[in-house]
Amino acid sequence: MTSPYRVVAFSGSLRQGSTNTALVRLAQRIARPELQIEWIDWVDQLPWMNPDLEEDPPAVVQRWWQTLREADGLLVGMPEYNWSPTPLAKNALDWATRPPDDRAIAGTVVAFISSGGRGGGAKAQENLTPILGFMGATMVVEPPVQLALVRDRIDADGNADEEITEAVRAKLDAMLEALRQRDAASA
Ligand SMILES: Cc1cc2nc3c(=O)[nH]c(=O)nc-3n(C[C@H](O)[C@H](O)[C@H](O)COP(=O)(O)O)c2cc1C
Repeated sequence: MTSPYRVVAFSGSLRQGSTNTALVRLAQRIARPELQIEWIDWVDQLPWMNPDLEEDPPAVVQRWWQTLREADGLLVGMPEYNWSPTPLAKNALDWATRPPDDRAIAGTVVAFISSGGRGGGAKAQENLTPILGFMGATMVVEPPVQLALVRDRIDADGNADEEITEAVRAKLDAMLEALRQRDAASA
């Protein structure tokens, strides 16, 4: 698929006033026309991962798989709880790695943007990056967006200071470059 690329995005935080949700909103607003970022606000409706459900996947699981398969990229506002991704984000990503013989996330270009406490979400990202790479996603690691203690630097609509805005813009540019390289490799 060629530009404009379709990127789906969700936030791993359910918190009202979430800074990670705000980062995704910022990304949506500043994305270049070559990247269309579509907000997904229903990943919290995915059931807890239970392989029993895979025999007859619920409609929302099928919707998630279909959404990922139709997308070129996935952008996640990734909070960090106790050095780990939030359960919401991990659950959505676990479902994205299924079914094992046709992983929905395979071939997807994936980027994390994080706002955390002192750690800035670095450990959550480090934890997931090799796993998703192994599952067939292309991870956009550089430049990292791992923002520490920024609650007073971004509002709920994603209005942020220049440093945060430029960090997210650089990440989106890296995502766009990874998508172009993917196309060039498959041409
Ligand atoms: C249960 C819990 C554990 C947390 N653990 C970490 C952590 O390990 N590293 C970190 O950087 N921040 C940690 N934090 C702080 C959150 O990352 C921070 O509150 C962040 O703003 C949450 O994202 P949000 O604004 O999108 O809701 C933790 C917060 C909670 C509620």
